[in-house]
Amino acid sequence: MGEVIPIRKKPINVAQALDKMTTKKRITLYKPHAGQLKIHKSKARFRVVACGRRYGKTLFACNEIVKYALEHKTAECGWVAPTYRQSKLAYRLIRRALKDVITYKSDSELRLEFENGSSITFFSSDNYDAIRGNGFHFLVLDECADINEKAWNEVLRPALSDKRGKALMIGTPKGRNFFFRLFARGADPGFPDWAAFNAPSSDNPYMPEGEIETAKREMPEDTYQQEYMAVFLEESAGVFKGIDKCIRGDLEEDYQPITGHDYIAGWDVAKFQDYSVVTVLDCHTRELVAWKRFNQIDYKVQVEIVADIAEKFKSTVYMDSTGVGSPVAELLKAAGSGRGFQVEEYLFTNASKKVLVEKLQIAIQYGTIWLKNIEVLINELRIYEYQISPSRNLIYGAPKGAHDDAATSLMLANYGMSQPRGALMWSVEEYVQEELGRAQEKPKEDKNPRPVMEIEKLEMEEEWKEEGVWIEL
Ligand SMILES: Nc1ncnc2c1ncn2[C@@H]1O[C@H](COP(=O)(O)OP(=O)(O)OP(=O)(O)O)[C@@H](O)[C@H]1O
Ligand SMILES: [Mg+2]
Repeated sequence: MGEVIPIRKKPINVAQALDKMTTKKRITLYKPHAGQLKIHKSKARFRVVACGRRYGKTLFACNEIVKYALEHKTAECGWVAPTYRQSKLAYRLIRRALKDVITYKSDSELRLEFENGSSITFFSSDNYDAIRGNGFHFLVLDECADINEKAWNEVLRPALSDKRGKALMIGTPKGRNFFFRLFARGADPGFPDWAAFNAPSSDNPYMPEGEIETAKREMPEDTYQQEYMAVFLEESAGVFKGIDKCIRGDLEEDYQPITGHDYIAGWDVAKFQDYSVVTVLDCHTRELVAWKRFNQIDYKVQVEIVADIAEKFKSTVYMDSTGVGSPVAELLKAAGSGRGFQVEEYLFTNASKKVLVEKLQIAIQYGTIWLKNIEVLINELRIYEYQISPSRNLIYGAPKGAHDDAATSLMLANYGMSQPRGALMWSVEEYVQEELGRAQEKPKEDKNPRPVMEIEKLEMEEEWKEEGVWIEL
């Protein structure tokens, strides 16, 4: 049987077909807001853009890199973000917006090539060795405050030399780190190739109403200053501030409980590769009196170690009951019968973890807890960080690759200490909470995601204009 050839019922419209073949493709970029427009118009080779959260930095840079790639033939462009995941967001945004002019795309290499021979490749700076050997005409560094300084010095800056490439570094301040130094160079008239821009989130007219006021109410003042006002604070708005003034001496080996004092223990159970840490606090002196870290994964052994400590201090043990935590808590409860200690389970969610973190944050900031000079613990507290999720919630944790078991164990014990036993303890906590005037946060969903990039046909403009720009290919 031969092929069935369909009979074309409609005559071909030759004029229309020809038109289709000869019509150039027009890519319309977004309409920048006034602040974005000012940065687009800068001719500096290196632009450092330090703006508040949700200012429109990523959208701005996506449009800028696309404009560069499409207006220059065979341009090599690169997009670098701290992690592969962040880079992939920009990749997806641009892939979707430019589907009509993409000639090659690779979701694994994160590379897009266009009809004019230009390309954009997306990288992560945590794997900056993979960028070595590339040369770029145009480079974007997104979330630049989290980009490894070595990545810039050793790989990215040299990659711009051959082609005298341009760079756009965008981000929100994170203390006076590498990004601040780039920003300072941009602001220094002694570097005419450089320019710096600084603006708060409120300059984005597309920011949903009430968003900034809500953020201000819900986060510590310096976090707000850093994240929304885009201020380069002397000390980065890390999570725990004033740690040093809470450290009192070294941990005493085999500390003996004092009769009449209550003790609370916090236990972060080891799961997989991490450590089990148990911390004991004296509720009367609010002092850390015992601390043990071990990576024995056999749960029965872990339970015995903790049960011995809890028995010695006759303490209530607060522990994470998520996942494997719950059966382990049952084991500990069973081990505790007749030994004079109790077990309280604490279910970890983003919201409940935030409560733990903020209680410890307040205790450390107001000096209502005494810690010991325990290197692992103090270091974990210092590097503990937060991220702001797309729906503007604070998400707490250790930086990638670091541990937070000691910090979590302390948080659990500190939380336990704040639970009503003595009226005075409770009222101190309440008072401090009230002083800060912060309501407990409920996680919110981003109900109105905004358009990311528009493509439509418009009039030709070469320069960036408020009403948008289109590129003809
Ligand atoms: N010119 C614009 N037109 C329309 N919407 C815009 C414009 N600029 C920014 N937005 C919107 O503002 C929001 C934030 O944009 P974007 O994600 O680019 O900000 P950001 O500064 O990179 O934020 P983050 O600090 O969270 O990384 C998005 O919803 C985006 O669509
Ligand atoms: Mg962004």
